[in-house]
Amino acid sequence: MTMTVRRLTRAATAGLVAAAALTAAAHSAEAADTLGSAAAGQGRYFGTAVAANHLGEADYAATLDREFSSVTPENEMKWDATEPSRGTFSFGSADRIVDHAQSQGMDVRGHTLVWHSQLPSWVGSLGASDLRTAMNDHINGLMGHYKGEIHSWDVVNEAFQDGGSGARRSSPFQDKLGNGFIEEAFRTARAADPAAKLCYNDYNTDGVNAKSNAVYDMVKDFKSRGVPIDCVGFQSHFNSNSPVPSDYRQNLQRFADLGVDVQITELDIEGSGSAQAADYTKVVEACLAVSRCTGMTVWGVTDKYSWRSSGTPLLFDGNYSEKPAYDAVLSALGGSGDPGDPDDPGDPGDGTPSCTATYTRTADWSSGYNGQVTITAGGEPISSWTATVTLPAQQSVSALWNGTPTWSGNVMTVRPSWNGTLAAGASTGFGFTVAKNGSDAAPVIGTCTAS
Ligand code: XIL
Repeated sequence: MTMTVRRLTRAATAGLVAAAALTAAAHSAEAADTLGSAAAGQGRYFGTAVAANHLGEADYAATLDREFSSVTPENEMKWDATEPSRGTFSFGSADRIVDHAQSQGMDVRGHTLVWHSQLPSWVGSLGASDLRTAMNDHINGLMGHYKGEIHSWDVVNEAFQDGGSGARRSSPFQDKLGNGFIEEAFRTARAADPAAKLCYNDYNTDGVNAKSNAVYDMVKDFKSRGVPIDCVGFQSHFNSNSPVPSDYRQNLQRFADLGVDVQITELDIEGSGSAQAADYTKVVEACLAVSRCTGMTVWGVTDKYSWRSSGTPLLFDGNYSEKPAYDAVLSALGGSGDPGDPDDPGDPGDGTPSCTATYTRTADWSSGYNGQVTITAGGEPISSWTATVTLPAQQSVSALWNGTPTWSGNVMTVRPSWNGTLAAGASTGFGFTVAKNGSDAAPVIGTCTAS
């Protein structure tokens, strides 16, 4: 009963939504130089993951509204958030995101209907026949609530195992319903909202490998048998262990050649400065080279709220300044934008020295570890930098190199020894040895300041 009313309420606003979208499109045509408008010029969307609890932060909302044309709720549409107990749906946080997006003329990606993670325990305790009913009810409940309002749904997420086997991942769905659960989920989803594109989404499938081969075989089989699938999502979470694959474009293209759209769904690339910017360029260029790559989504607005915040993997830093990666993406999208606009924070010529500090543990043994902090200058040359390292209370530093420390309690403030001067985008760093004294926790690296 409640659901019917909510469905009508959401559907009744659809006319208003369409009007808002037109206004936004007209507006962005005049005001170029954003990720969304530049991507639109290439016939693509440029989206971000959004968390409902940050929408009230003015800078967060302003950056979101200015730059992006699509949003994906980061957690709010997952099973644990939307159906915490069987048959009781809660859409409050997801509705806030969808309402916000629609008021700004942004599209919404739905994430995700059937996934082994962020799954309430009641689902795992059902027997096979009940589980099948519950899965279909869940799909119908969510897709029904947002019918006509979601451009693409991640119907099934991460159903394949990592590593070389190409096997399905163990999950309540796989273990009790077998391979057929994926097909059943897609068929249910098609009937629930025929207007939504239905995607299969996964990670470590970005290049050609055993896992992506297994997904490829599934999609090929679905297409040959008429199982409704429209798109494949490539999460694209990259870092030094999992770099942007050299055959990324070829991999996207071979999926597109099966007759599905491809989308980059959760892009983030750990790193900083010009190296990170170059990696972002590769990703955008790969998507633009594949005509069925319909859009890209980065997995968050700002480094400070990233699920991998220590890796600073996004396009805006913690102060919402555009990073070199932002300029690289805008320029790869053909934005008439202003990489190098002296008025933009972080761009060369803005007159403001800036830096970022990123941390890695470079060695580890039972009683201690070595840490390394990399300092990277922003868009201006700098003559000095300051970084803070807050150590867990038990730990103590026994050696430090390539920096000069001063101490206040367990906070170590480090300034350059010989390595203060950096060209724009260049990096240096300092290292230190820590005695664990019983605590293996990581230090917290504070904001880097430069002069
Ligand atoms: C992540 C969110 O970013 C985190 O806030 C949450 O704690 C865990 O999930 N693959 C996915 C996303 O499909 O849903 C995950 O999002 C990241 C990996």
